[in-house]
Amino acid sequence: MITSGPTRQYLDPVRYLSNASSGRMGAALATAALELGHEVVVISGPVQIDYPPRAHVVPVVSTDDMLEASQEWFKKCDGAIGAAAPCDYMPRFVESQKIAKTGAPLTLELIETPDVVATLGQTKLPGQWVVGFALETEDRRFRATVKLEKKHCDLIVSNGPSAIDSLDNHVELLDAAGDVVASVHGSKQQVADVLLDHIQQRLIGRVSG
Ligand code: C5P
Repeated sequence: MITSGPTRQYLDPVRYLSNASSGRMGAALATAALELGHEVVVISGPVQIDYPPRAHVVPVVSTDDMLEASQEWFKKCDGAIGAAAPCDYMPRFVESQKIAKTGAPLTLELIETPDVVATLGQTKLPGQWVVGFALETEDRRFRATVKLEKKHCDLIVSNGPSAIDSLDNHVELLDAAGDVVASVHGSKQQVADVLLDHIQQRLIGRVSG
């Protein structure tokens, strides 16, 4: 299972908070996993790109929707890759009518949304695995290691802000001990192919014995 793309948190019927995520990394991971013969389900927020036709795509809008669909589908899956950029905050109150401009500043009270990958990591069953992503602007390796532990991931992919909405990516893959096991620079498809090779060897190989 792959989570992909951004999620949206509506403030009113027409305005939302979101993340600048294209879904391209998720689509590339889906292609790589299909190439290796896996069945793939993609839980995707709203994106402009197409996923490979052989992937089963479950469209979602909000982070809560992504969590609910991911928890349901994860039951049928061997592992999950969290390539999505879910919106981390939502307004405490959602207006049912469009918020009218008054000329005065508008203050929004935001609360945190649930963390999809952390929830999957906490609830994974023996044999199931979770791979997270960490997009950081500073202290990339250290912060990725903290997230890996906090979210109970088996591997984590550390990338920088240049990954956003780009065709290329430059990532480091860290194992559960926090060691860098791969460093890849290339198109998102090249990066995804290398990541899937590692996942196959380290996690899927482990599961199937
Ligand atoms: O937002 P953060 O940098 O902590 O995200 C790291 C990982 O957690 C990514 O794999 C992302 O898909 C996942 N995540 C999530 N739900 C959130 C926030 C992040 O699944 N609400």
